[in-house]
Amino acid sequence: MPVINRESEIIHKLYLHHVSIFTPDVEDSIAFYQKVLGMQLTTRFYQRSVFDIAFLRDGRSSNGLSLELIGLPLSGWREKFFRQHRPSLSHFSFVVDDVDAWYERFQAQEVEILIPPNDFLGIREMIFRDPAGLIVRIMAFLQPEATSLRVQDIIGSGGVTYYLHHLSITCEDINTVEQFYRGQLGLKTVIDRRPGGNIFMVDPAVAVDGSRCGPMIEVIDQTCWWDREAALFKNIGPCIDHISFLVDDVDTVYNELMSQGIESTTEPVDYGPNRIFFFRDPNGVEIEIQRPILPQLLTEWRQNER
Ligand SMILES: [Fe+2]
Repeated sequence: MPVINRESEIIHKLYLHHVSIFTPDVEDSIAFYQKVLGMQLTTRFYQRSVFDIAFLRDGRSSNGLSLELIGLPLSGWREKFFRQHRPSLSHFSFVVDDVDAWYERFQAQEVEILIPPNDFLGIREMIFRDPAGLIVRIMAFLQPEATSLRVQDIIGSGGVTYYLHHLSITCEDINTVEQFYRGQLGLKTVIDRRPGGNIFMVDPAVAVDGSRCGPMIEVIDQTCWWDREAALFKNIGPCIDHISFLVDDVDTVYNELMSQGIESTTEPVDYGPNRIFFFRDPNGVEIEIQRPILPQLLTEWRQNER
């Protein structure tokens, strides 16, 4: 596949916008993400028996990833996907200026298009498959973005500020997926723990403030050294695996969530300079809580490890 020139105008105007979850009860899920993770409802689309969609944001005031909750009823590919996977992570989405220009580019490069450009709820969108087989959306706002509410300081459970940091995909082969996101979408690998580990990719046009970098896509493949991810690939195959939030103090957050009766799937454990635990949302989607990860710290850790 040809590699796109990073200087190209079209590429520079792309940014990772949201990760999306299918839920049978949007109101329940809104309550969970507001109460437990301190997210704020920014947009609600509801028409009885037609659609039920909500967008939430974390404590970051700009450029943060949003979380989309999609409820029933569903139609088209969404319905098919829901029947197959039940409540789950659905897709992730990039914002661009001109969806139709991207459509032409993708057609020329034989990217598998699932839904060609169309208008829906003030958004022009198209849906395609990445080489891992995952569903990805490209969209542009036809009206000024409805999610314009500025969220300066949202405090979640136990007075903690959470930052939505990355979404994680599990695939057969990291190299193929990396090549696609680098070549087609201009993302850059900023953390590289191969062989056996993960990579993190980021849009280089999005400013990194030095202590927190993101939003990111984490890519893990079937050769990874972690039991959890290896089992996931074996049981489910390529999938959007989890979404990850940063907090300053992982153990305090863990204790606070446990005291609220939230069930964790793992206890906090150290991974090099990281400290991580997982729990599930009401839909069964796994949420990762971790300390801020700095590419530089991880590089140093990796070098010391050799
Ligand atoms: Fe992760």
